[in-house]
Amino acid sequence: MSACLLGEGCRYDGGSRPSAAVCRLAGRTNAHPLCPEAAAGLKIPRPPAERVGGRVLLRDGTDVTDAFVSGAQACLDVARASGAPLAVLKARSPSCGVGLVYDGTYSGGLTRGNGVFAELLEEEGVCMVTEEVVESCRPSVEHPVAVVLGTGLGHLHSLVHSVRRIDYHDIDGFPEGARPIPGHSFEATVGTVDDVPVVVYPGRIHLYQGYSALEVTALVRHAHRLGCRDIVFACATGAIPGNAHKGLGILTDHINLTGANPLAGSSELRGLETPFVGMTDAYSPYLRAIARGVADDLGIAVEEGVYAGLLGPSFETPAEVRMLRGMGVSYVGMSTVCEVIAARALGMNVLGLTLAANYAGDGLVTHQSVVEEAQLHAQDFESLVRGVLRLL
Ligand code: HPA
Repeated sequence: MSACLLGEGCRYDGGSRPSAAVCRLAGRTNAHPLCPEAAAGLKIPRPPAERVGGRVLLRDGTDVTDAFVSGAQACLDVARASGAPLAVLKARSPSCGVGLVYDGTYSGGLTRGNGVFAELLEEEGVCMVTEEVVESCRPSVEHPVAVVLGTGLGHLHSLVHSVRRIDYHDIDGFPEGARPIPGHSFEATVGTVDDVPVVVYPGRIHLYQGYSALEVTALVRHAHRLGCRDIVFACATGAIPGNAHKGLGILTDHINLTGANPLAGSSELRGLETPFVGMTDAYSPYLRAIARGVADDLGIAVEEGVYAGLLGPSFETPAEVRMLRGMGVSYVGMSTVCEVIAARALGMNVLGLTLAANYAGDGLVTHQSVVEEAQLHAQDFESLVRGVLRLL
């Protein structure tokens, strides 16, 4: 973590204010405060420095690139030794900026690019976020975390210290006659899990039941109206043999093969400025890194991979499984993709978790066997979700 975010006075203006959300995260993890500029022995507080081309210049034109590079290298050694899966870096700084940095005009203007240290971490494959990402994911009573549970994973619902229950049929856009399939229940609970404000939706409806993409995303729009900024989707899937194993997985991306999209068609959704929604990093790299860290710390076996959403309800043919394997898919299921699209359109941070209950194409799979397999992993799943909530 950039040391200045934890309150160390190592920025040029000396006025580094700690980020409460980053300090909280640091207090709950094994965080390493790093400052490439302090590591380089630069004068602290230093005068303003910005990136100009590939270099770093002070306002008076002094080229301080070599010092920035040597400090960044020293910090990289510490980061490597720590094995940390996540770097939380000061936004826009010439050493730590991620994606955007000050543009060399010393006027507050910004340009695309990374700071010197962030460039090195990127080559290393470390997930990097700014303090703004950590702050935007921080839950509160006004911004609870939404958790949508899938087949056999509904038990988490019982852990909620409930302050209010909401019948799905009182939710705008939720279809009137819808009844839960086995393993799902249709009452949302607003409350807390381990003191973290949450709204848990213990069941969902599916396209294969004949509902539209707009209807299957009613819960997402509801969560957004309640103020949720983070949304966790949990779903049962089949693992694609050769690409994933049975058990818990973190979704890294998806392929929407349902033929449906909640942003297509009627404009009533949506109160959206545009239906043309970017889907890069739809599954928040930050939330994924947090989930990975929690799983590693707790010794829970978790894989990662791409989810393919199919319409269902028939399971996949062997030819479809071969196709999905060739496409790089790890998990196949019949939900989630439309919900993730709707959540991203509403600007929500998405974490996708799955329980691969069977190998896709296994002729013996039934809905009941999926429920039973999910229950075997319920304890690990709950520990994973609780661990993630604790760090947000
Ligand atoms: N295919 C699709 N959806 C699923 C599967 C599967 O094998 N298992 C659980 N949900």
